[in-house]
Amino acid sequence: MDEVFPKGFVWGVATSAFQIEGAHDVDGRGPSIWDTYAEQPGLIEDGSNAHVACDHYHRYAEDIAVMASLGLDAYRFSIAWPRILPTGRGAVNVAGLDFYDRLVDGLLAAGISPWATLYHWDLPQALEDEGGWTNRATVDAFVELADAVSARLGDRVEHWITHNEPWCVSVLGHAYGVHAPGKKDWRDALVASHHLLLSHGRAVPVIRHNSAGSKVGITMLVSECVPASPSEADRISATQYDGELNRWFLDPIYLGLYPKDVIEYHQREGRLPDGMNFVRPGDLEEIQTPIDFLGVNYYSRAVVRSATIPEADNEPRTIPLPDPAELTDMGWEVYPDGLARTLIRLNDDYEPGSMVVTENGAAYATAPGPDGSVQDTRRCDYLKRHLQACLAVIDAGVPLHGYFLWSLLDNFEWAFGFAKRFGIVWVDFETQQRIIKASGHLYSRIVRDNKIPKEQAA
Ligand code: FCB
Repeated sequence: MDEVFPKGFVWGVATSAFQIEGAHDVDGRGPSIWDTYAEQPGLIEDGSNAHVACDHYHRYAEDIAVMASLGLDAYRFSIAWPRILPTGRGAVNVAGLDFYDRLVDGLLAAGISPWATLYHWDLPQALEDEGGWTNRATVDAFVELADAVSARLGDRVEHWITHNEPWCVSVLGHAYGVHAPGKKDWRDALVASHHLLLSHGRAVPVIRHNSAGSKVGITMLVSECVPASPSEADRISATQYDGELNRWFLDPIYLGLYPKDVIEYHQREGRLPDGMNFVRPGDLEEIQTPIDFLGVNYYSRAVVRSATIPEADNEPRTIPLPDPAELTDMGWEVYPDGLARTLIRLNDDYEPGSMVVTENGAAYATAPGPDGSVQDTRRCDYLKRHLQACLAVIDAGVPLHGYFLWSLLDNFEWAFGFAKRFGIVWVDFETQQRIIKASGHLYSRIVRDNKIPKEQAA
């Protein structure tokens, strides 16, 4: 197999605003649902909040310099909605836009292409107070955000991502209750999912209008869902989970419909007491607005069992594998074959035309050694094996055009706080010192050579 990636393959890293920026009350930023969530005792594993995080808001120039030193082509970041529209809609906070303006200019000056995500989970609290994503009015508030941001940055940002992982927003946030806003109501989750998708479809033409010639996509968390055993019951559960996680979001975007078997499944579970009455005529046409690329976030596969779900807790049914050697600090299995099969499946089922891995990475706590270097060999191994999977599918003709590693920096990992480190750059959260880890040096070499080094190939 060819070890070399195609010419023009985009090499980047990804972050999100809430996880790195800090500066939570600076320059007019309003509170977000994640600020509120983190304030509630017991919800964040290490009791932390993201008031400072990586202090990227103040240190963005240093972080751009780190990316430039690694030779990266592109940087995927997200826009904090509460900086732009502190109460969710209405008057634009120019100081908030100014920050992203400086960031974009700094990136371009360093030869790094900005890829902007409009929503990476930090909904303004004021909108949540009116029902958040379960309220249809939030759709148009999101379009206001898309308009304000693309009007200001559209002359320089050539790649836009409307949403990051609507499954996490809707299901983790509204059914499982493990993400902000912390609700446990499946109907809310399904209504929210529809409004998220509708807001995507409605924002696409607005972005295109303001940012002529740019490419617009959406990022989905996609997993290969496999049964925990050959039993018929587990097989059925794996299909249901694939429906809930993958097809519920991809079918509307690419096929203009919600999958019938998944509607029936949610109905059987009592999650749609009023049916699909939140879907109005014309919605699916808007959601199906053609896009330029599909962003794929892949971390692991999902091994699914059929065990009864305690209704009150809405517990997910995925289970970790018994082999601890192959688990990252998140308890997620290292499973690169799943990435290859996922990309092939997406291409076969949806023909997205162009795909980009917008996140892939691993949490390992490896700290600086006595010499100050961070030898995160397990992350190096994870990276090489997943890039081999990318090469294999490119060889097979899948239109995969870029790879963004999650993440540039160790950061605030949502409900886990700072307890999980995903960075290729170590962050000392006391001093804000950054140290490029061994994985960062390896990635830099891969990016510069456009190939996985021979002696390092898995
Ligand atoms: C993804 C999120 C990202 C980060 C990684 C580990 O689901 O998009 O913000 O938390 O997981």
